[in-house]
Amino acid sequence: MRLFLYSQFFITFLLRCTKSAFFSPPLLKSSILLVEMFQRRKHTQKDNSEQRDSKVSELRAAIGPLSGRSLKYCTDACLRRYLEARNWNVDKAKKMLEETLKWRSTYKPEEIRWHEVAHEGETGKVSRANFHDIQGRTVLIMRPGMQNTTSAEDNIRHLVYLLENAIMNLAEGQEQMSWLIDFTGFSLSTSIPIKTARDIIYILQGHYPERLAVAFLYNPPKIFEAFYKATRYFLDAKTVQKVKFVYPKNKDSVELMKSYFDVENLSSEFGGTGTLKYDHEEFSRLMVQDDVKTAKLWGMEEKHHHIANGNEHSTAEVAPHPAPITQQAS
Ligand SMILES: *[C@@H]1O[C@H](CO)[C@@H](O)[C@H](O)[C@H]1NC(C)=O
Ligand SMILES: *[C@@H]1O[C@H](CO)[C@@H](O)[C@H](O)[C@H]1NC(C)=O
Repeated sequence: MRLFLYSQFFITFLLRCTKSAFFSPPLLKSSILLVEMFQRRKHTQKDNSEQRDSKVSELRAAIGPLSGRSLKYCTDACLRRYLEARNWNVDKAKKMLEETLKWRSTYKPEEIRWHEVAHEGETGKVSRANFHDIQGRTVLIMRPGMQNTTSAEDNIRHLVYLLENAIMNLAEGQEQMSWLIDFTGFSLSTSIPIKTARDIIYILQGHYPERLAVAFLYNPPKIFEAFYKATRYFLDAKTVQKVKFVYPKNKDSVELMKSYFDVENLSSEFGGTGTLKYDHEEFSRLMVQDDVKTAKLWGMEEKHHHIANGNEHSTAEVAPHPAPITQQAS
């Protein structure tokens, strides 16, 4: 609430100070959404691991017996994320988790297959990097400037597909992913409608709590950073740490990126030797392979795109391993 009031104050202040078209309402709204996304409640009490273990048990007891995919979804690590997102309040975490279970049973994110969303990904606006960060987190690369489709529903489905894919490809014991958001080419004409952005943030906050470790905003419109800096005093330190602004050919940015990634994986703008080019055909091949893994993970029989590998019966036990590096496109 406080944050909201301060945001309003800040915007009014900005609008009074400048008539520049740059501070247009849609960009400001995007900035507010950005801050909302990382907003978290402040921690009031000191963390205690034994206490936390017992909270996990409490939450498990509170949600009652589960079966099928809900049971599979609710790992201890999962319950921990919901508790963390609700400041270790069991009742609130329970409510949140139940909302997700309801959402998952109707939206069925684990049933989305690449061929249903591939058309949204032609420009590479969201893709999974073929490397992990130093800590074994999956890296999602987002390019808001490459957005060129019009269906809000498909846009969201495509993103949900990639979130699920990123989670499946986490290194063992890792629960979080990193985002590399490249704003190159971003303008008002490429930005998604505010309503879609709001729906996306609602899904991310409500159904993927504590999944995001860090987001690198590469070459963002300056207003984003100005706005974030002005509001960060009202956010807790942990949240502030999650958002990093990085700029091409900038010494600090290069140092920062090196502390999260291997140089070989980074593109030249960050002093690396790799590239972050997107090849739709190559990526599609990888996703089709991953669809088979997804089906196995959730104990589903795959009807299409079946790849025989003589390992069909070890379904539920298959742990999500990082995907192998894709072969080069010929
Ligand atoms: C988006 O861009 C891709 C790649 O340039 C193109 O193939 C596709 O047709 C475009 N989609 C729309 C809806 O304009
Ligand atoms: C990323 O870096 C690691 C470690 O240096 C390397 O093994 C891997 O091949 C790199 N991946 C890509 C896609 O360059």
